[in-house]
Amino acid sequence: MNAKIYTQRRKQLMRMMGNNSIAILSAAPTLIRNRDIEHSFRQDSDFFYLSGFKETESVIVLVPGRKGAQFIMFCRERDKVKETWNGYRYGPEGAIEHFGADDAFPIEDLDEILPGLMEHCERVYYTIGLNTEFDKHVMDCVNSLRRGARGGLSVPNEFVSLEHLLHDMRLFKNREEIQLMRKAAKISVQGHIRAMQACQPAKYEYELEAELLYEFNRNGAGWAYPSIVGSGANSCILHYTENNQPLHDGDMVLIDAGAEYEGYAADITRSFPVNGRYSEAQKEIYDVVLAAQEAAMVQVKPGNHWNDPHHAAVKVLTRGLVELGLLKGKVPALIKEKAYSKYYMHRTGHWLGMDVHDVGDYKVDDEWRLLEPGMALTIEPGLYIPAGSRGAKRWWNIGVRIEDDVVVTKDGYELLSKGLPRTTEEVEAVMSAKK
Ligand code: GLY
Ligand code: MN
Ligand code: MN
Repeated sequence: MNAKIYTQRRKQLMRMMGNNSIAILSAAPTLIRNRDIEHSFRQDSDFFYLSGFKETESVIVLVPGRKGAQFIMFCRERDKVKETWNGYRYGPEGAIEHFGADDAFPIEDLDEILPGLMEHCERVYYTIGLNTEFDKHVMDCVNSLRRGARGGLSVPNEFVSLEHLLHDMRLFKNREEIQLMRKAAKISVQGHIRAMQACQPAKYEYELEAELLYEFNRNGAGWAYPSIVGSGANSCILHYTENNQPLHDGDMVLIDAGAEYEGYAADITRSFPVNGRYSEAQKEIYDVVLAAQEAAMVQVKPGNHWNDPHHAAVKVLTRGLVELGLLKGKVPALIKEKAYSKYYMHRTGHWLGMDVHDVGDYKVDDEWRLLEPGMALTIEPGLYIPAGSRGAKRWWNIGVRIEDDVVVTKDGYELLSKGLPRTTEEVEAVMSAKK
C-alpha cells in the first residue's frame, strides 16, 4: 500500500479526534504456541491500518493538537545480534524514514515519554481490554500524571474507545483496498478450484486443505482463518477445523477457506460432492441454498439496509424447507418463530476487510445500517441437516453453505469472488475437468 495512504488515514482520524486529545495504539503481542515456539506473528489490524508497520513491541501515538510532532512511534531499536537471530528491525530511525513518523523512540522509553504527551490532553482515545498488559502501561501513565497534578500537571479526564471512529473509517474500503481484496479473492478462488479438482473418494480432508494452502502460499498469501474442510457429518459442523477424516464416496464436502493477501481477507465457501456428482438429495438442498444466495445478493445495493440480504435469504430458505417437507406450516409464521434456525443457525453475512469478521457497526441508533458504496461483506446462506434430524433421512449429513464476497458499488455490488463455480452444473464441470 502506498505510504501516502497511511498518512491520509492518520490525518483523517486526527481531524475527527479534535485537538486536546491523544490516541494510543499498541502493536499485537507475540503469543507462545508451545515452549519456546511462537505463533506466527500477525499485526493488529487497527495498528497496521494506521501505520503499515509490521513489528511487534511497538506503539503509535497521535496527538493532533501538538505543534511539532503529531505522529510518534515507539519501536524496538536496531540490534545486530537479535536481527541475526530473528530478522530485520527498522528501529526508530527507520520508523521516521520509512513510516512517516514525526518522531520515534525506543520502546523502552515509552513509560517515560507517554505522560508528557498525554499532558494537556483532555481526551484519551484508547481501546481498553484488548491487551491487558499494555493497558497497565497506559494506566500507569495516567496515574503518574495524577500524582503530579498538585504540582500543576493537567490530567486527561475522558477515556474514549478509539474503535468507534477508526472502525467507521475501516468499514469503507478505498480503491487500493478493494484491489487487494480482489487479489485475496482471486487467490482463494484458485485454491478452491484446485481443491475441487483434487477431490476424490479415499483421500483425506487434510489433503484438500493442503491444496488450498499450496495455492495461497505460492501466490504470496496465507490463510485469513484456519480452513474448514468438512465431509459427511462434518459438513454440518460450522467451525470444524480438524480436517482429518477420509472422504467417502456419496458424501458432500464443505470447504470454507479464504486467503489473506497484504492484510486483507477473502472468505469463501463451496459445498460439493466427494465423487464429483451431486445426488438428487444433495442437489435439492444445494439449489435451495443457491436460490437463497441469489435472492440475498439482489438486495445488496445502496439504500437497502444491512439486514435486507439476510431477510431475503431466510425467506427463500424457509420456503424451500417447507417444499422439501423439512418444515411444516405457513412460511410467514415459520419465519416469525425462526423455525428455520434448526437448519440455518447463522446469519447471512458479515463485514469483510482486514479482519475476516471485519469491524464496523451493523446498527446505527438502533436501526440497521444502510449499505453504502465501499462496504464489503459476505453473502453466505446455508442449510445443515445433521443425522437424526426428524423425518429427513435422505438429507442426513448434508451440509451446504455457499459463501461469496461482495463490495457495494454505486448501483449494486461487485462480486469479488468471481470465477468460482456456483451452480451444481458448474461445480460438476470443474470437478470433471481434473488436471
Ligand atoms: N469463515 C468464517 C465465516 O464464514 O464467517
Ligand atoms: Mn463468512
Ligand atoms: Mn467463511
